[in-house]
Amino acid sequence: MWTQITLEVPDDLKDAVVGELSDDGVAGVWDDATRLVLYFAPNADLQNVERRLRDIFERAHVALPQISRCVVEDCDWTEEWKKSYTSFAIGNDFFVIPSWVDSPVPVGRLPIRIDPGQAFGTGTHETTQLTMELLERWVEPHHLVLDVGTGSGILALASRLLGARQVVACDIDPIAVQVATANIARNNEPEVWTFCGSVDAIAGGTIHLLLGNLTADVILALFEEFNRILARSGLAIFSGILNEQREDVFDTCRKFRFAIHEEMARGEWLAFVVQKHGA
Ligand SMILES: C[S@@+](CC[C@H](N)C(=O)[O-])C[C@H]1O[C@@H](n2cnc3c(N)ncnc32)[C@H](O)[C@@H]1O
Repeated sequence: MWTQITLEVPDDLKDAVVGELSDDGVAGVWDDATRLVLYFAPNADLQNVERRLRDIFERAHVALPQISRCVVEDCDWTEEWKKSYTSFAIGNDFFVIPSWVDSPVPVGRLPIRIDPGQAFGTGTHETTQLTMELLERWVEPHHLVLDVGTGSGILALASRLLGARQVVACDIDPIAVQVATANIARNNEPEVWTFCGSVDAIAGGTIHLLLGNLTADVILALFEEFNRILARSGLAIFSGILNEQREDVFDTCRKFRFAIHEEMARGEWLAFVVQKHGA
């Protein structure tokens, strides 16, 4: 038995709700377009949960929506979630198809067949979408692309489908690497290589286009390494940066003499295209 809490949550508050409630024993989350459905074990402190929800909405100056509560029987979360993840267009060029769905591909779009399993990278998150859209504009056929923090492998696959010569994808999470490797096989893309680890395994001056949908903290911590592995005039697309972190990322780009070519925003998220100096 589980307690199910359902409430309308604006997109820009969903991360805060899920993140903050993870400390309060949320056992499952279902993002159903405008609503979040949260599942708690019977012994969870639901008063504290409701207090926390009130705080989040108050801080954001958003009226607290109606919270409905009911008890549900045990269910298979994965199967439930799968019902809500259907095929959808992403960027100008792609069409994401869950691996368990058989859907026709709209004319002019490239299919990416994904089973995200436990990895980040369904394609529904703004940070992934921003990176995909920038990738479409900046990738070139001669590029050796490195996807740092590949998750489901969605960006690595998109790079290859857009014609990048070779793509390397890495993640420090071994489960993500397993998921990405399976998705790459599913899409028949032998020129995408995966490994468990990070940028320290990459030779200096080799990467033409680096994709980093990470967090600002990780981007800043790895910047020196990014500078080392990028070829002269190499490009990087950074995503996963919150609006309020913009200046910190810009300062670091300037410190390393990176030019900032493009900036995109969606909701509370920013993504940038930057370029290493050519000298
Ligand atoms: C936000 S997810 C991005 C997934 C996918 N690339 C996308 O755009 O949807 C970030 C991923 O980065 C991985 N990660 C975090 N720190 C990392 C690091 N230092 N090196 C490599 N991967 C890292 C996480 O395990 C996670 O899978």
